[in-house]
Amino acid sequence: MANVRLFSGERMPLEMHKVRIVQKLNLPPVEYRRQAMTEAGNNTFLLQNNDVFLDMLTDSGVNAMSDRQQAAMMIADDSYAGSATYTRLENKLREIFGMQYFLPTHQGRAAENILAQTFVTPGSIVPMNYHFTTTKAHIVVNEGIVVELVRDAGLEIVSDEPFKGNMDIDKLVACIEEHGPEKIAFVRLETGTNLIGGQPHSLENLAAIRRVCDEHGLLLVMDASLLADNLYFIKTREAACKDMSIREITLKIAALCDILYFSARKLGCARGGGICIKSEELYRRMRGLVPLYEGFLTYGGMSVREIEAITVGLDETMDEDMINQGPQFIQYMVDALVARGVPVVTPAGGLGCHLDAMRFLDHVPQAEYPAGALGAAMYIAGGVRGMERGTLSEQRDAGGNETLANMELLRLALPRRVFTLSQVNYAIDRITWLHQNRDLVGGLVFTEEPEILRFFYGRLAPVSDWQDKLVRKFREDFGDSL
Ligand code: F0G
Repeated sequence: MANVRLFSGERMPLEMHKVRIVQKLNLPPVEYRRQAMTEAGNNTFLLQNNDVFLDMLTDSGVNAMSDRQQAAMMIADDSYAGSATYTRLENKLREIFGMQYFLPTHQGRAAENILAQTFVTPGSIVPMNYHFTTTKAHIVVNEGIVVELVRDAGLEIVSDEPFKGNMDIDKLVACIEEHGPEKIAFVRLETGTNLIGGQPHSLENLAAIRRVCDEHGLLLVMDASLLADNLYFIKTREAACKDMSIREITLKIAALCDILYFSARKLGCARGGGICIKSEELYRRMRGLVPLYEGFLTYGGMSVREIEAITVGLDETMDEDMINQGPQFIQYMVDALVARGVPVVTPAGGLGCHLDAMRFLDHVPQAEYPAGALGAAMYIAGGVRGMERGTLSEQRDAGGNETLANMELLRLALPRRVFTLSQVNYAIDRITWLHQNRDLVGGLVFTEEPEILRFFYGRLAPVSDWQDKLVRKFREDFGDSL
């Protein structure tokens, strides 16, 4: 992605790729969208993709693949054991991360399962900058405790702090002193911190965490699922790294970690996952769980075609022109929304554009899930599917009480190289309209609430007839337009 200056003086992100395979999209009328949202229980996860115009639910497994990735998939070696495809992946990981050992898993959370089962014991602590939903669920299932130590700036929605994903080193030291190092399962740093708006950490922060871990003999585990975005931010925002290549930064990052796991549904733009490990001893401790839960050690539940695509995708991640597409589109969207007075997380991070539902819908109480309500309203207003990242995505505590989230965000993910700028401009327009009409939007209430990861398949209903009012206003303002 280039960022060119136009004759008018404005700057514009310009794609450094062309589109050669396309998928037809459908934008159903607003009345249909309202009905589809009702049928989906006001949960965007339950919409049929045919009914969705811009699928901004996630970047997981839906980034565009390159021609080189597709070509590599045609020459995969489908042997159960000792597959040449697997060896190619293993070699690529060694080249990029410089870690000797690898365990393949079918996706990121499977890696989390193995890590949690191996290291988390009842009552043990896992300090981290910020949790991710599946990570926390695996730690909690194994009776461990998540302690979040992101710097206070990380939870400020509006900020100009470049590395809001940084861990607070003083809080980390205090946590270790409070509990004692023997109670700590491992320290986890999530790169491109998902739930606080895809916000990066700096290389300097990682090095400081490493020093603390060394002082106390603790394991440092990186969740590298969103590494591509974070690499771009380190390169462009951290002065000490501006002359380093993406490959050099990646090697430095990996050298500071004991274990680095990832969802290859994100990192590498395909579908799979795995755990890179520095020491043979740690590798051996985890290894037995791979054939038990995933598959043999040379595929780990992944299709060999996907493994080929991951290998090429990881290689392409080392290309700055490739990894800067997401952050630059997100920056464009964030800047446009800020200019129109729409509350969003700043600075622009990776993964997507995050609407601040707490301010957008400041009349909807947190117990009525403002971010979930905004997600339902966004789909009705524009056929745009986002993902709730707020109280709905939390779990109730042991006493059955709501855990109110620190932030109520509607995440509009921008899968890499998938959307065009005119589609992004359309989304900006419908978000702006919704913001102008925010008073019409009300809250949601559960009609069916699953116990675990309820946001995936729970069903909700609007607290009033606000959705009918929204549809009527849409027709008034847009006439017969889609
Ligand atoms: N860690 C992070 C930071 C993630 O963002 C994800 C997935 C995972 C772990 C789990 O990986 O899905 O391959 O099992 N995030 C997806 C998302 C679900 O939409 O943000 P997985």
